[in-house]
Amino acid sequence: MPEKEPIGVIGVGWVGLCTAACFADLGHHVYARDILPEKVESLSRGEVPMHEPGLSELVRGNAERLRFTTDIGEVLDNASLLFCCVDTPPTYSGDADLSRVEAVIAELGGSVGHAIVMKSTVPVGTGRSIRRRFGGVGYVSNPEFLKEGSAIKDFMHPDRVVIGADSESEPFADRVQALYEPLGTSVVRTDVASAEMVKLASNAFLATKISFINEIANVSEELGADVSEVARGMGLDDRIGPKFLQAGIGFGGSCFPKDVSALKQLAGNTGYHFQLLTAVVEVNELQKRRTIGKLQKHLGSLAGKEIALLGLAFKPNTDDVREATSLVLSARLQGEGANVRVFDPVAADGAREMLGGATITDSALEALEGADGAVLVTEWPEFAELDWVDVHQRMRVPVIVDGRNFLDREALVAAGFRYEGIGR
Ligand code: UDX
Repeated sequence: MPEKEPIGVIGVGWVGLCTAACFADLGHHVYARDILPEKVESLSRGEVPMHEPGLSELVRGNAERLRFTTDIGEVLDNASLLFCCVDTPPTYSGDADLSRVEAVIAELGGSVGHAIVMKSTVPVGTGRSIRRRFGGVGYVSNPEFLKEGSAIKDFMHPDRVVIGADSESEPFADRVQALYEPLGTSVVRTDVASAEMVKLASNAFLATKISFINEIANVSEELGADVSEVARGMGLDDRIGPKFLQAGIGFGGSCFPKDVSALKQLAGNTGYHFQLLTAVVEVNELQKRRTIGKLQKHLGSLAGKEIALLGLAFKPNTDDVREATSLVLSARLQGEGANVRVFDPVAADGAREMLGGATITDSALEALEGADGAVLVTEWPEFAELDWVDVHQRMRVPVIVDGRNFLDREALVAAGFRYEGIGR
């Protein structure tokens, strides 16, 4: 069998590591470069620094094909397709911070015969401007659509692969396409700017879907409808689809808030006011804060009250707390004078410094003991499995705000809880 094309990965964060591990599992030799020596050392020992189901197993199981290094020269000597996976966090203006991408490009600028395969989410137009400045190097846009918590499955069974290149880089794009052939998925071949836009538009659309259903939830509360039933009825329409219609206390994570803001900003920079996205962001911010009102409805002033937050991660199956609703809620509750106790099965360590005076507990029961109210923030399965009759005995006031419509409402009401869901 012919040797599979070796590949390079630049930036071994979550996207880079998932990409490296999955390509290694598909039989490629992968040269993964990060600038942090301690990260490279621990990865070389098979230690994976993030919680992502299946990732550690892939890294350890493919150790012979996965080389971690700080040396860009080693990557350039061994691979010509270089997947750029560095992060692009938002700046104060809401634009994407491209300094890490720029640093990578500066290192590779003269490397004729190599191509940058851009996985990092970048503003539309980035590829064109890089090509203009560094003519010699090939450029392929290949945005990632991985969800935290199911990234390995998403990589191996993608809905589609998007590959954008201009005519000079087509031969590189063909080679990138060949890497994905074993996955047997639809491939969208297009120009660079359109590929860049697919990524931003997809995330912005999904965020819009969430803010839309959250507004339907808020109106349903007033009008006596149940948003879960409404979403079920809407979702059966093929044109709408059932996914991303789960009402809750707002979206978070490293992608949606950043990408929505980046697209809004990008439009604004061209003089176009993307009104819809302005509303999507605002609805999301208000949605987080509505929880406070739901607690106040039952408890009056929150000053001096003990409030338990169940979950810190922005969604289950991850330890990621970036842009997590829990952080806003914890700060807002403390602003109202409440004493906040939080529990998360995996995300506590990463959140410690962002929680101000909140107490992190070792178990859900410890957070709930003697509490005046509780908010379910993240739908970790273990929260549904709590003995809620026992919890009722332990809480001082049995008020629960189910921020993800995740708990068994009837059972909780039967147990004596004052239950507040979202849109029901
Ligand atoms: C997202 C995109 O799905 C992925 O394609 C992209 O590459 C990165 O951004 P991720 O951030 O991992 O992935 O999370 P996702 O599962 O999409 O959820 C994002 C947020 O939306 C979470 O806070 C989640 O709780 C919330 N959400 C999701 C809802 O509130 N309702 C829904 O119906 C779905």
